[in-house]
Amino acid sequence: MNHSSLLTPHSSPIPVIAIDGPSASGKGTVAALVARELGFHYLDSGAIYRVTALAAQHAGIALDDETALAELAGKLNVRFDNGEIWLNGEKVGEAVRTEESGNAASKIASLPRLREALLAFQRSFRKAPGLVADGRDMGSVVFPDATLKIFLTASAGVRAERRYKQLMEKGMRANLARILQDIQQRDARDSARSVAPLQKCADASLLDTDALTIAAAVNEVLRRYQANRPPGVWN
Ligand code: C5P
Repeated sequence: MNHSSLLTPHSSPIPVIAIDGPSASGKGTVAALVARELGFHYLDSGAIYRVTALAAQHAGIALDDETALAELAGKLNVRFDNGEIWLNGEKVGEAVRTEESGNAASKIASLPRLREALLAFQRSFRKAPGLVADGRDMGSVVFPDATLKIFLTASAGVRAERRYKQLMEKGMRANLARILQDIQQRDARDSARSVAPLQKCADASLLDTDALTIAAAVNEVLRRYQANRPPGVWN
């Protein structure tokens, strides 16, 4: 009997934990730690949008040229290796972590054909023994058959305080009221956009981290994964 015929077209026996949520919710930190605990691969999909925007800038492609961007995304020479990102054989380093890079990523992320062109690359991260995928459309579009879908959130006030602390710890100047305003504006923009808007999909499980430490949030994701995973799956 051909068991593959029992699987839906998107189905794969390799488990995926999809973690989505608003900016500054701590989802990246939680996702990376969950991946480490389980020995799973980790997909930082935001970094893919950031590095694509950087590649476009290198190639002199305008950030609203959907056709050229989709073509570029289809043949992107990017490698993720131990937290390092390589573009065309060169380390990109902190260049993808800047505010400008985030803005450029968010611009190109609103182009449907560009998103479509990045699908196969993102899905290529699904390798044994499993994947933790971080990003807003991980559960809805990229891995609709994910084993567990988490919508990780916290109130705008708590997220602003966390970001403020982070910046202070790095010795950077920060203004809490301003950060809160930025977070509220970004939430509104992300929720209103027509392509892959910020929203909890119906089959995602909500994890509010207002009263949770990072370790507690990680443990809660692990607990839900153990409760959800189909029998016979790794870990
Ligand atoms: O998460 P990060 O800040 O690195 O993402 C950068 C931008 O890429 C986000 O502001 C968002 O607009 C976009 N993005 C997206 N879909 C994803 C991941 C990121 O649209 N799966």
